Amino acid sequence: MNKNPLKATALALLLSVIFASPLFAQKFEELAQTPPMGWNSWNTFQTNIDEPLLKGMVDTYVSSGMKDAGYQYFVLDDGWMSMERDNDGNLVADPKKFPNGMKEFADYVHSKGLKFGIYNCAGTKTCAGYPGTRGFEYQDARLYASWGVDYLKFDWCNTDGINAIEAYKTMSKAIRAAGRPMIFSLCEWGQHKPWRWAKDVGQLWRSTGDIGVGFVKTPSKGDWQPLSVLNILDQQDSIRQYAGPGHWNDPDMLEVGNGMKYNEDKAHFTLWCMLAAPLMAGNDLRKMSDETKSILTNKDVVALDQDPLGVEAFRYYTFDGIEIWVKPLANNELAVCFLNRSDHPQSVNYNWKEHLITDKVSGTSFDFGQNTYKLRDLWDKKDVGTTGKVFTQTIPSDDVVVLRLTKE
Ligand code: GLA
Repeated sequence: MNKNPLKATALALLLSVIFASPLFAQKFEELAQTPPMGWNSWNTFQTNIDEPLLKGMVDTYVSSGMKDAGYQYFVLDDGWMSMERDNDGNLVADPKKFPNGMKEFADYVHSKGLKFGIYNCAGTKTCAGYPGTRGFEYQDARLYASWGVDYLKFDWCNTDGINAIEAYKTMSKAIRAAGRPMIFSLCEWGQHKPWRWAKDVGQLWRSTGDIGVGFVKTPSKGDWQPLSVLNILDQQDSIRQYAGPGHWNDPDMLEVGNGMKYNEDKAHFTLWCMLAAPLMAGNDLRKMSDETKSILTNKDVVALDQDPLGVEAFRYYTFDGIEIWVKPLANNELAVCFLNRSDHPQSVNYNWKEHLITDKVSGTSFDFGQNTYKLRDLWDKKDVGTTGKVFTQTIPSDDVVVLRLTKE
């Protein structure tokens, strides 16, 4: 019995203030301090996944150098389940696709030093028609925790009449209640402006509809049109202030290695790293060409994405199809990306000394009239002088040059 009722009331009041406060986040705060990196089954395989295929992918993930380059999560997207829950209402891994069950598969992923992710949907069914989580949030979260899930992607199909903010908050609470730290990846395609409300709910949120394979344009898929790399890029600049360590805008998964040209893949990857985007590879790792591997595992470019300051790039300059994107980095460093989105090669003659770059979001500024920076080209992997001289380079169409700037 508490002998001091006043003290007890004060304590209860304090606790209720803490727990009711919007500052009390449900999510596991320590996760995704830099954008999550991994592989996801959707872009190449859609629902055509099974255990032998995926175990082969896990093996290649490690042997190809992806793991060494910093990729960590192995995420199953839609299509892993049976069409019905069992008699207790539990989701069941499709026994034909996963004859040893999902726990065994998760153990396999973990045994290779990777983390395991899975997919479901806030609606009554997933986008591909499998059982959705609506009404089963706590039960599903407990099941995932029992399997050792480390990452949940949560989609937004079949949600008529459902309030998005409430649905995602409920799942976030369910994950917290299940007790296992899981990254919570919101996937409502930016429809309810999650950058405004999801910071305390999850670690990342999709900012647009689905990406397709195309740099400028994508082929249509019957009744809908996936977005191209440039379509998505153009929707990121205005929301950059909402991202930071533990809470990221997600411009969708990578299409590197899925059919674009080398320069387009290279530009797509560079821009995603400039945007501090979650890096989810979506190609068949077992058939990855050396070129694709050299893009996905370029550690200097990945380091821009993973920079601890966690600031997204902004479009600093645009003229005649040339854009300059600037990403402030930790320790007063800076990444500068020249993008040629015109249909012909263009020469850049950039006189640094005429530029003072200021970023209100990160509170940083770079005065090249006052300070000189060394330049390193991250694709050519060589030092290319300093900001003391005009930077001159010809950039092919749909290609980039990206430089890391370090004070002399
Ligand atoms: C939606 C998502 C995709 C993928 C599919 C699965 O379209 O945006 O990323 O998860 O559903 O059906």
